[in-house]
Amino acid sequence: MPANLNNYYGIDFGTTTSAVVGYMVMDHKPEQFFYGDDEGRPLPSVVAINKTTGEITTGREAWNKKMELSETCEYFSSVKSVLDRDTRTTIAGREWTPVDIAAELFKTLKTSVKERTGNDLSIATVAIPIGFSPEKRDKLRSAAAKAGITISSFVSEPTAAFFANYEELRSSPIVAVFDWGGGTLDVSILKNENGRISELATAGSNIAGDYIDNKIAQRIHAKIARKKGIELAFSDMPSSAQDLMLVRSERAKRALGDDDTATISINNYGPFGACRELLDYDWFADIVEPEVSMAVDCLKKAIEQSGVGLANIDRIVMVGGSSNLRPLIERMDSIYGEKLFFPDETMWNVGQGAARLAMTPGDYYSNQSIGIILSDNSFFALLSPDTPLTNWNMECHFGIVDTNEEARFVFGGSSDIEESPARFKSLSVPAYRFLQEQIILRAFVDENMVFKVIAGSTMRPREYRRVWDYSQLKCYYKLPEMRVEL
Ligand SMILES: Nc1ncnc2c1ncn2[C@@H]1O[C@H](COP(=O)(O)OP(=O)(O)OP(=O)(O)O)[C@@H](O)[C@H]1O
Ligand SMILES: [Mg+2]
Repeated sequence: MPANLNNYYGIDFGTTTSAVVGYMVMDHKPEQFFYGDDEGRPLPSVVAINKTTGEITTGREAWNKKMELSETCEYFSSVKSVLDRDTRTTIAGREWTPVDIAAELFKTLKTSVKERTGNDLSIATVAIPIGFSPEKRDKLRSAAAKAGITISSFVSEPTAAFFANYEELRSSPIVAVFDWGGGTLDVSILKNENGRISELATAGSNIAGDYIDNKIAQRIHAKIARKKGIELAFSDMPSSAQDLMLVRSERAKRALGDDDTATISINNYGPFGACRELLDYDWFADIVEPEVSMAVDCLKKAIEQSGVGLANIDRIVMVGGSSNLRPLIERMDSIYGEKLFFPDETMWNVGQGAARLAMTPGDYYSNQSIGIILSDNSFFALLSPDTPLTNWNMECHFGIVDTNEEARFVFGGSSDIEESPARFKSLSVPAYRFLQEQIILRAFVDENMVFKVIAGSTMRPREYRRVWDYSQLKCYYKLPEMRVEL
């Protein structure tokens, strides 16, 4: 291998498509690679497992052969949305969890890197939606690990999209990122003060492309049922017919971005037989109006919450496949006009941003304080603003001042903690109330960015330790000096 060669990877593990972006740095010059399917597009996040043989088909091949495979295989799409579910499916004698299925997609991405460059994708920065629960983060880590990939850090999807377009956006102090994909809408208002990037406000929704496809499919189905005079709900159709209708609806949705009409024809639509429907743009715009309004309101809400006022938002970055919906673009354009920015290569943006962070990692710093309200009502800070969070931890010892058999810690330091009900902001640790007894409290931020406190009495065994966690930690990201020119 040549000297000074380093590879850095970012992964966009999407609900509908997934992608890896890699930077190969040789003598300080990075070269960018996109890895997805064999056709140079991101990989459809679908997995099919043969019901008899257990054979696994993933990505574009599984997507292209969806109809054929849905007869012989268990077919999984949008696994990201159900990652935290404890479901188990037995297929050809093997039990599958959502994590196992997600792992197959990571394996396919890893293979794609190997086949193209011979390199091993073994460590990566991975982008996740806003509000992706610590549980889901953990599951995603396990899925990647099963494919031999270590997740070095997470970055929020809108923040990654921002970094992918950093050159274009660096002179805009406040930027809104609007990322509407297949499974989620993620909006983030970002402030950039000389490379210190903080999220001023975020908003999100689970209503996205998949939901819209489903709605269109139901409406077309209702049209067909009316015409043919057969009463049969879409959900009661054979699953292969439902799948077929969903695929055609998704295709029509995209076609109506450019054309004023789209046709859906299905030769064998269950008991309805051959069907053909002509869809026009106005009908379509009417159907998606509530979702478009929801998305526009989500952006408005985030802008309001950020407190900066619309006039101070410099750019609105539109990414994610569903940002191409024509009714959305028309609405957004009438409200925000010149502020809208549609990057090139948007389907690779999130992976690209994650890869840039993998290559030139900055650091997360806390943007809030967390501490304990002591018995005299004074505040004892555990974590202060502007503290670097990588490997941060601290330990302190407390004495007991009353005769309770429990040492009770009440947390505070930020308004959301202070305003939450007592059971969420306090931690009771079993104690003996002996004079010489101490309560040892250890605080740290775990690999999933959850702030954790573990406390226990010096006179009680480990199992009497208690844990408090807080997953809403506010932080900012500080870019390093760029070591390589991008
Ligand atoms: N031209 C288009 N018009 C409307 N919708 C589109 C268009 N192109 C793609 N989409 C939709 O965008 C969605 C996929 O977008 P994207 O690849 O950004 O999602 P994802 O990253 O997989 O999902 P998420 O970020 O929610 O996990 C699909 O629902 C797809 O139908
Ligand atoms: Mg996405």
